[in-house]
Amino acid sequence: MSDDIRWEVVEESALSLPDHEAIAAMLGQAFPDWSHWYVGGRSWSGMQPERRVIARDADGVVLAHVGIRRMFVGVGGEDVLIGDTGLVAVAPAMQGTGIGRELMTRTQSVLEGLRVPFGFLGTSERTVPFYVRMGWHLMDDAVTTFSAFTADGAGVSETEQGGWLILPVTATAEEWPEGPIWLNGQQV
Ligand SMILES: CC(C)(COP(=O)(O)OP(=O)(O)OC[C@H]1O[C@@H](n2cnc3c(N)ncnc32)[C@H](O)[C@@H]1OP(=O)(O)O)[C@@H](O)C(=O)NCCC(=O)NCCS
Repeated sequence: MSDDIRWEVVEESALSLPDHEAIAAMLGQAFPDWSHWYVGGRSWSGMQPERRVIARDADGVVLAHVGIRRMFVGVGGEDVLIGDTGLVAVAPAMQGTGIGRELMTRTQSVLEGLRVPFGFLGTSERTVPFYVRMGWHLMDDAVTTFSAFTADGAGVSETEQGGWLILPVTATAEEWPEGPIWLNGQQV
């Protein structure tokens, strides 16, 4: 991995419009099927993060990115604090060079700094093995109801099984309650 990569952890209110544009440009490349979300300065798709982990090259081009936001979710009727984690991406030209691993190591440090019991994320079958390799726990039978991202902004509830992972941070994986997960909003 290049020594020219600069890593930063940035709070949402410290981001400028050019920062949002630089992040959105990379997200549009990393998620080509969803590039219509990441137009101009729109550097998020569902819930706006509160904190980001960002890698840039010497010219300020964004090479890797994660967004995190703390939120309470209902799990089997219990309120659980999570660091919802999403917008995980490495610029296509840099994928497979170890940046994703570094990104997730830094993400874990941010979650530890936020002192959340768990990191939480939902992903497709294709990328589940990446997160498991990074130490996240796949909850095989977890069923989550969340507000889907829609182009017109309507928050319609969807329920999905599969692809839900947690990272034990201040809690252990065994402390995650049994039962269906109610996200009660959108994901990062
Ligand atoms: C998924 C993604 C973030 C991984 O980043 P990356 O820089 O390519 O990953 P790295 O090169 O650092 O790989 C880290 C480790 O994960 C493994 N890995 C990477 N992608 C993998 C995948 N899809 N399945 C299984 N393992 C994977 C690598 O083999 C490597 O293992 P090792 O360090 O133990 O040898 C990146 O490919 C990406 O941005 N993809 C497009 C956007 C996306 O799908 N994001 C996730 C959706 S929520």
